[in-house]
Amino acid sequence: MANLNFAPREEIAPVSVPARRDDNVFPLPHLYARVSKHLLPGEWPAIARDVEAIERLKKQRNAVVLGHNYQAPEIFNTVADIVGDSLALAREAVTVDADVIVLAGVHFMAETAKLLNPSKTVLIPDSDAGCSLASSITGADIRLLRQRYPGVPVVTYVNTSAEVKAESDYCCTSGNAVKVVRHVAREWGVNRILMLPDEYLAQNVQKDVPEIELIAWKGRCEVHERFTPQDIRDLRDIHPGLVVLAHPECPPDVVAEADFAGSTAAMADYVGDHKPGRVVLITECSMADNVSVNHPDVEFVRPCNLCPHMRRITLPKIRHALETLEGAVEIDAAVADRARAAVERMLAVR
Ligand code: 13P
Ligand code: SF4
Repeated sequence: MANLNFAPREEIAPVSVPARRDDNVFPLPHLYARVSKHLLPGEWPAIARDVEAIERLKKQRNAVVLGHNYQAPEIFNTVADIVGDSLALAREAVTVDADVIVLAGVHFMAETAKLLNPSKTVLIPDSDAGCSLASSITGADIRLLRQRYPGVPVVTYVNTSAEVKAESDYCCTSGNAVKVVRHVAREWGVNRILMLPDEYLAQNVQKDVPEIELIAWKGRCEVHERFTPQDIRDLRDIHPGLVVLAHPECPPDVVAEADFAGSTAAMADYVGDHKPGRVVLITECSMADNVSVNHPDVEFVRPCNLCPHMRRITLPKIRHALETLEGAVEIDAAVADRARAAVERMLAVR
């Protein structure tokens, strides 16, 4: 705990929000306005109490909350100080001025933030918030692949454990995958790259880099693999004029049916830039809830595939993490140094 200037655990007074409040006063109405499409007025006072407690704890701890675009609206629109896609959260984690970072997202995101902030306390409010992609591959798998493909560089998706990143040459996200593989091919003077572990992301990136052979793994996102091309055709039939945006973790035949494919941030930017009359985001369904807040004139069609891992993060768990500092991410130093190098090489690619 040396060098951290937040109060040690025992000095943090339990946050007490008055149990009795004037029933005529509706709490935090400006925040309720942002989530009112998703929460009934009667649900809000209890949620507002957690929000108030978290805000107070953030000040006491000198903490920030980084929130992924897939977080539930009552987190994304209230206590999250910085929101974005995996790439933005990694970039922000480098510059954030705080002693404690709470990662409202999944475990690999918290690990990435810790890699980039070894001296800070990085909290994941539920350490079981995993990811089907991250659990699809191990460091030992990569060592075997290197034996099978000697001299072939390894680019791994950020949706992996620190142990896997440590075995990798470069990291990438859905927001910069094409740029990273082109950069690696140039730097290494190669035309073959192991791109792991998301089979569909590799296949979707492959279309943009025909000059490079991408060797994939069999990992899948359990949320995006459920979409089918027929789903999109059906939606277009039911909703004329529908603009379809898809995440590149979707199967390639789904991406082929879409009007645009990009990371969660790229999809949000597309809506802001093009202001489609009617749009569907083929991705985790909290995304549409969150993006729609800033675009009341856009009609969002909402098929719903929820990520069970993202849903493990709740306001009470964020509050608990800040009260107790439980859920601090720790990474073995030798692993962390090598994993950090792969993430930093990615961040240096512009
Ligand atoms: P991005 O936000 O980087 O597009 O990633 C999506 C995702 O599945 C994160 O788990
Ligand atoms: Fe992993 Fe898919 Fe959930 Fe993202 S949406 S955390 S890739 S399982």
